[in-house]
Amino acid sequence: MRARGGSRHDEPDMSHTVNLQADVADVLLSEERIRERVHELGRQISHDYAGQRITLVSVLKGSLPFMADLMREIDIPLRIDLMEVSSYGGASTESSGLVRILKDLSASIAGEQVLLVEDIIDTGLTLNYLVRYLRGKNPASLRICTLLDKPARRLVDIPVDYTGFTIPDQFVVGYGLDYGELYRNLRFVGVLRPEVYSVAD
Ligand code: PRP
Repeated sequence: MRARGGSRHDEPDMSHTVNLQADVADVLLSEERIRERVHELGRQISHDYAGQRITLVSVLKGSLPFMADLMREIDIPLRIDLMEVSSYGGASTESSGLVRILKDLSASIAGEQVLLVEDIIDTGLTLNYLVRYLRGKNPASLRICTLLDKPARRLVDIPVDYTGFTIPDQFVVGYGLDYGELYRNLRFVGVLRPEVYSVAD
């Protein structure tokens, strides 16, 4: 969980009564817009890797819905693998980009065409770590696909190959993105009402 719009290490305040729909102030990306864009990304990826086999590496948990939808929009042979990471908490380590691997790859990616699938890039610290980690496993190629890019919060420059949507610095939830591990099951990406998280800021 990252407090997107606040510090990435803010502790969530979940003392209010959660109401999935009512806690969202605005729908930023509707279910239909997401579906259309994921379809386009799948077509683009299928075209770019035509004649090859790829390995999609998804970073849990936020990218789960995106990964599930994207893989079904790609019509070339593919394998999937899943990683889960968490950043080390605390202000002093925030800019270090130290990442703890909670779940590692389950198969070798040596010699594979790897596409890293993320739900959102904020500071870029997670991806910066993951790219270096995965490069060390000697894939034939490594590209990045993210559903959302929030460039206003970037701390490290990461070249992104496929971006679904570039979004403003707002606190977004839904379609995999959480606040306090909730809201991931919303079908759209919405902006959380400030009163839901303001106590924690
Ligand atoms: C989110 C997202 C990225 C990371 C991006 O994961 O899935 O992995 O934050 O932030 P950064 O660019 O500032 O590093 P999160 O830690 O919220 O875990 P989750 O996917 O389980 O919600």
